Amino acid sequence: MSAISRRELLALAAAFPGLETLARHLPQQAPHRVTTAPPAGPLGEADWQRIKDQFVIDGLHLNTGTYGACPLPVLDATIQHLRAFERIIGQEAVDWPAFKGEVESFLNAWPGSVAVLRNTTEAMNNAAAGIDLAPGDEVLSTTHEHIGGRCCWELLARRRGVVYRTFAPPLDPADDDELVAAWQAQITPRTRVLSIAHVLFTTGMIQPVAKLVRLARQRGIISVVDGAHPPGMLHVDLQALDADFYATSTHKWLLAPKGTGLLVVHPDRIATTWPLVASGDWAAANIERFEHVGTSNESLVQGLRAAVAFQRAIGQDVIEQRDRGLATRLFDGLARLPRVHLVSPHNAALRSAMVSFTMDGTTAEHLQGYLGRYRIRTRRIAEFGYEYLRLSTHIYVLQRDVDHTIDLLRDAPVD
Ligand SMILES: Cc1ncc(COP(=O)(O)O)c(C=O)c1O
Repeated sequence: MSAISRRELLALAAAFPGLETLARHLPQQAPHRVTTAPPAGPLGEADWQRIKDQFVIDGLHLNTGTYGACPLPVLDATIQHLRAFERIIGQEAVDWPAFKGEVESFLNAWPGSVAVLRNTTEAMNNAAAGIDLAPGDEVLSTTHEHIGGRCCWELLARRRGVVYRTFAPPLDPADDDELVAAWQAQITPRTRVLSIAHVLFTTGMIQPVAKLVRLARQRGIISVVDGAHPPGMLHVDLQALDADFYATSTHKWLLAPKGTGLLVVHPDRIATTWPLVASGDWAAANIERFEHVGTSNESLVQGLRAAVAFQRAIGQDVIEQRDRGLATRLFDGLARLPRVHLVSPHNAALRSAMVSFTMDGTTAEHLQGYLGRYRIRTRRIAEFGYEYLRLSTHIYVLQRDVDHTIDLLRDAPVD
């Protein structure tokens, strides 16, 4: 998917006030595909500053991996819908067919394959509960799964005798193939599901989902992808990935309102996967069987629609190139600090827009407190006994913000 034209953007602005400002400021530019080592982005720092001005962030947000910040057009669309809804008479309906078309096109998902849910956790639970697994059936995954991607399997293990088996993946592999080989070596005749985090929340490593899905398909194994991070950060082509289930949180990198997520189900799996919540459409053979969960908040969906429009206005490839370019700048700057040990991959092709590290003489907890005093928000990864600090680089981060953070870390106090 390419960046949209200024004309399209102005048309969208009629539906989403706030995009007009962006349309006026963004230069026309050719979108780039990201390469293994992303070159400098086509927009200059002044353009990115104007994009940053679309946010109300008070400080420096380096934790998009937990949740992103909504830009003004998203806030406006959400709030306007919320107000209009409370008029009760003459409420504005979300244009669901148009919205679904936009989100499917953004992610290149199959038509009719996208269900709107609350988040990755809920989407992963739908997938896990919807597949019929018997005692002894194995679900294979890594030791780096977030609670949102693993608790659904742990519950099945406790309740149904399913075996949830995890292995330690190589964290600094030479290439994709080393990761594929590591997964392949763990598959047994009992393996029924590969539960794959597209991007590891611990280190930001990108896993080769398309290759792993192919590996699974060749063996009749179901693929469930925890895609909490990529949409809005990487150029995602769901039909090319071809997973059976892809779960995501649009309130992270896609910058939609909190409490919005998607479950994308392969067309071959929709009719045979049980819905987690049964409501009016539970027996329908279409994607709505997962989506109809009683009354929910459509203002969030209106905000999600505006978030997709906002990112299309900039261009997915442009955003990926920017985010990963900033992460590389950060990675390289941190690599020059003598006390820092990077845990994110050295191969830039496997690195996303999250960089994790440890530092001699202090802990992630203390570093988080130290940067917090400069109004910088970060994530401490303390799961599984790790003690990493994780920094996310999204579109409201400027090069000078990265350099400032590196300068502060250079002077981080020893405990
Ligand atoms: C890899 C991964 N999976 C799942 C989740 C859970 O996301 P949510 O709380 O939006 O369901 C997260 C949250 O950070 C995550 O990083």
